[in-house]
Amino acid sequence: MITLGIESSCDETSVAILKDGRTLLSNVISTQIPIHQKFGGVVPEIASRKHVVNIMPVLDEALKKANLTLNDIGQIAVAYGPGLVGALLVGVSAAKVLSFTLSVPLIAVNHLEGHIFANFLSHKELEPPFLALVVSGGHTALIEMKDYNRFSLLGQTRDDAAGEAFDKVARLLGLPYPGGPQIDRLAKEGNPNAIDFPHALMKAKELEFSFSGLKSAVINYLHNAEQKGQSINKADVAASFQKTVIDILLHKTKQAATQTGLKKIVLAGGVAANSRLEEELRQFCAQNNLAFYFPDRILCTDNAAMIACRGYYQSLKGDFADLSLNAVPYLSLQDK
Ligand code: KG4
Ligand code: ZN
Repeated sequence: MITLGIESSCDETSVAILKDGRTLLSNVISTQIPIHQKFGGVVPEIASRKHVVNIMPVLDEALKKANLTLNDIGQIAVAYGPGLVGALLVGVSAAKVLSFTLSVPLIAVNHLEGHIFANFLSHKELEPPFLALVVSGGHTALIEMKDYNRFSLLGQTRDDAAGEAFDKVARLLGLPYPGGPQIDRLAKEGNPNAIDFPHALMKAKELEFSFSGLKSAVINYLHNAEQKGQSINKADVAASFQKTVIDILLHKTKQAATQTGLKKIVLAGGVAANSRLEEELRQFCAQNNLAFYFPDRILCTDNAAMIACRGYYQSLKGDFADLSLNAVPYLSLQDK
């Protein structure tokens, strides 16, 4: 089975071609980051317009790289949410036209589920059940993956996502968008114990996160220093902020692992590319006899390969969409 995957939920236009469940033939990603950097964040209308321009050339390149033609495609998987509505509609429309003209099934993929499935492409031996920590620009959640098509949402963020906090704090420090990789780099030069930022919900038994208070604490710290005329060590702020986010993510992941008794921990989403988070989770898993998985860096951030992989496993249980499919910008992760 050849699955064509399409991703256009935010600022990456991507098309991938997957053979069966885990053999990636191509994964072309056209990023708009340099365009949005000028504005300090993603401008939704510009994102939609760029997707319209990029989607066909990216499709063409993905087919060429896979050495296939459209006639070889057996099914189309597309991310239909969550994300920016105008951006999602470009991918959804392209997928519907392809499904209709090629007379092949259409599969509607939840982008967040896709992030988890990136791990199946990087680790051919990985199988459920496992505990997944999804940390992206829009979401932070712990999920119990019972099987390929059965999950349970254990907890998520009450407010900001971890990636969103990285991006906002980076902006406060005058660093360019996207902030995550910038903080990651700058934190290496700073002292993670220099500033004591608040750790929200650490004592709560719920597996929920909250990062908006942390963002406000960084704002207050910077304002106070400015009012007192003190100079700020940006590297220390970056390192202390990053350590706080990682402490919280680790604490809740440990709690979830204990509660569920699951023996495999899977990291997913754009923030999974954070070098320190990966190191600390790896260490924690080694100390506790748990297996640890995280995707290749290119599959951590948005890409169509993960969408194709998620779509393939949906197709195995006959989970297809019809041509009335629409974008769902606030699509959530739900128990299945
Ligand atoms: O999953 P993703 O590509 O898009 C969403 O679905 O949201 O995640 C993007 C997020 C951004 O907030 C970005 O700053 C963050 O992932 N990110 C990182 C790193 N690389 C990307 N955060 C921390 N450290 C990184 N190295
Ligand atoms: Zn994403």
